[in-house]
Amino acid sequence: MSLLDKINRDTIPKHIAIIMDGNGRWAQKQGEDRLFGHNFGVEAVRETLKAAQEIGVEYLTLYAFSTENWKRPKEEVDGLMDLLVRTISGEVDELHESNVVISSIGDMDGLPPSCKEELQAAYDRTKNNTGINLILALNYSAKWELIQATKEIARRVKEGELEMDDINDCLMSDMLCTKGIPDPELLIRTSGENRVSNFLLWQIAYAEFHFTDVLWPDFKREDLYKAVLDYQSRERRFGLVSAQLEKNT
Ligand code: FPP
Repeated sequence: MSLLDKINRDTIPKHIAIIMDGNGRWAQKQGEDRLFGHNFGVEAVRETLKAAQEIGVEYLTLYAFSTENWKRPKEEVDGLMDLLVRTISGEVDELHESNVVISSIGDMDGLPPSCKEELQAAYDRTKNNTGINLILALNYSAKWELIQATKEIARRVKEGELEMDDINDCLMSDMLCTKGIPDPELLIRTSGENRVSNFLLWQIAYAEFHFTDVLWPDFKREDLYKAVLDYQSRERRFGLVSAQLEKNT
């Protein structure tokens, strides 16, 4: 039985978020520069998206560039931005054909104009599609997002638009970049690093984590299936005890 056949189609996570890590180490192993690894990372993005579409995932969020990544050498940052622009413009036709909806989360104002324009064109082109939502986290960090949300809530309270008692879980979720998007049930990180690196800190409160040693450019469809099978083997209790879950099913 293949890994794909083993997946229970009734309990597919609606939303999978991925910290794509290990491009640099992968390139180093081949004696190449870091950008070589990022370039090969694009193929892993294609494969992962296809695998997610195949099993019926509704949202796939990819951590493509964090606010901290600006501190990398200029050559790598410029190369990554260029790669993002080229990839989005080069793939948009095929993504549109396969009914993908492209969007992004993060501080778009901090991105180079060419990147913002390509993203805008991709949103406009794909916004009426009905297939998987591909969400690119670009110039994103969860602390930045939570500070923006907190400032907006404080402003509304100050202006009398909100009462203190209106501040709750739902309001906070609505103030984030991911407004309207269900929280990820599964977070994957590649390359053997076991941390969340400022990614979706609010949204992953109840996510299952799957860490794999596979470096991102080596990540294949089967690796996504393995992560989903791992997720499906977990008991998600949301603070309850097992007996309560059995009673509710
Ligand atoms: C982390 O590996 C990866 C990144 C910071 C960039 C991810 C970008 C891509 C996969 C390319 C394009 C993506 C899209 C969505 C078009 P690292 O450089 O931190 O690796 P290291 O930890 O081995 O140094």
